[in-house]
Amino acid sequence: MSESVLKAKSNQHNLVNYEETYQNFNWEEAKKAFSWNDTGKVNIAYEAVDRHAENPDKKDQVALHYVALDRKESLTFEQLSLKSNQFANVLKSQGIEKGDRVFLFMPRSPEFYASFFGVLKVGAIAGPLFEAFMEQAVQDRLEDSEAKMLITTPELLSRVPVKELPNLEKVVLVGEAKDISNGYVDYHKEMDQASDQFNIEWVDLEDGMLIHYTSGSTGKPKGVYHVHNAMVQHYQTGKWVLDLQEGDVYWCTADPGWVTGTSYGIFAPWLNGVTNVVVGGRFTPEAWYGALDDYNVSVWYSAPTAFRKLMSIGEETVKQFDLSSVRHILSVGEPLNPKVIYWGKKAFELRIHDTWWMTETGAQLICNYPSMDIRPGSMGKPIPGVVASIVDDQGEELPPNQMGNLAIKAGWPSMMRAIYKRPEKYESYFLNGWYVSGDSAYRDEDGYFWFQGRLDDVINTSGERVGPFEVESKLIEHEAVSEAGVIGKPDPERGEIIKAFIALNEGYEESDELLEDIRQYVKTGFAAHAAPREIEVTEAIPKTRSGKIMRRLLKSRELGLPEGDTSTLEE
Ligand code: PRX
Repeated sequence: MSESVLKAKSNQHNLVNYEETYQNFNWEEAKKAFSWNDTGKVNIAYEAVDRHAENPDKKDQVALHYVALDRKESLTFEQLSLKSNQFANVLKSQGIEKGDRVFLFMPRSPEFYASFFGVLKVGAIAGPLFEAFMEQAVQDRLEDSEAKMLITTPELLSRVPVKELPNLEKVVLVGEAKDISNGYVDYHKEMDQASDQFNIEWVDLEDGMLIHYTSGSTGKPKGVYHVHNAMVQHYQTGKWVLDLQEGDVYWCTADPGWVTGTSYGIFAPWLNGVTNVVVGGRFTPEAWYGALDDYNVSVWYSAPTAFRKLMSIGEETVKQFDLSSVRHILSVGEPLNPKVIYWGKKAFELRIHDTWWMTETGAQLICNYPSMDIRPGSMGKPIPGVVASIVDDQGEELPPNQMGNLAIKAGWPSMMRAIYKRPEKYESYFLNGWYVSGDSAYRDEDGYFWFQGRLDDVINTSGERVGPFEVESKLIEHEAVSEAGVIGKPDPERGEIIKAFIALNEGYEESDELLEDIRQYVKTGFAAHAAPREIEVTEAIPKTRSGKIMRRLLKSRELGLPEGDTSTLEE
């Protein structure tokens, strides 16, 4: 076997023949797997939870194994169904209706999952927020979505500027809530009183289900709007790519504040009726290997940053755990370095399967299948039912081995249906019938896709997508900062780190204390993961004559690369 191709070998996979399936598959056919194909009644919460709870052979199977430092708990499909029914009744009694936006801002916990499905069961639209967000980030998202209700914890409430949010009618508090007065709802008290029987709200396949906010290179975060129809692709990729089978124990390490944590941390496993592990709290190699071992995880979906971290602590730690249950490993969010794949082969005796997709695409699009040969460094090939290509800036397809825009023929089931309240933004993604991803890539003669980079200024730090504009906006709110330009700087472990260039207001002198204060300002005011790791003070930030920050120039200067075209640079 040559070093550059890793053959599919195992007999522990459901080896779906890629080429054959690609030729013959269509999404209409896939819909037959769902009960709504017979009943005409649709709700993703029914397909993911209640359907299994109604099945005598499935209802007592564990749906969720939850483990955190101070808590360990498991819920069967029946229990998850009943708890989410209870919460759906709470929502009804609080006036939540179909189409309302209900946001969830809390750490992963059994209550999170019960609430999440409760929201879907009343036909409302769920908006999960990453728990590390601080006040500004929370405000921007609740404001833009005009959320009517927020579910949060008493600890996180201090980051919610309730008075600034006129549309926010109710706040549900999960935990020891002190001051329960007008507008505030005590989760546990209401749950105790609520019936566990609920008539689920049947919706249309094209009705709203979920909003994930994500960053672009300019402006505030965008509300990426997904509909119930996405389940077809969550389910199908769960079969083909995650290779989920009866009896599997599955663990996706992503937080549901990010799209991987919903599409593949919630929907794909439960639509496929598989036991799902959720590990709360912070990443430590011991906790993660421990979870794989304790729960006999068989399918594991994580990210390059985590793999690189595990790789850096060496194989001695791996040997302390029994990881023999693991039979399939996948990765998403950033380029998966060949080095990591070779490490995975040694450490786990398994291949790590890279998958490519985005918040906007709702589900996996370009992947390495269990049955496919892997070319380390390649994202793989488009899944059946999806046409991917490389196009030029006019939307014309390019031949193999030419770099260009990674584009997908519009119209796959899990594609976003809108950018919330911004139709022109939504339209701007499409060109000549193609969805243009913003990534650059090329395709080789055999149809494998190779990621090259982002074409815009979006930063990918530890697999988390950060918009430079939001960080710059926060930086210039600091009293010492007059201008700011923010870039992603390559980093061996995190992919990129955030580096800020700032100009200081008159009367301020550069000092370590000041720079640390500015860093903390972003960390506590916006989000910890978006705080710049490096800050450099400069005289002025390069801008175009129309006032746009030239981040590309900042970056090439930082990396010692040629400056390129600077004809639009302001004098
Ligand atoms: O640049 C690509 C990178 O992450 C971006 C999407 O980020 P987000 O919407 O946060 O979704 C992440 C998880 C679905 C893409 O435009 N990206 C994602 N997967 C890969 C990747 N880059 C390289 N290889 C991947 N497998």
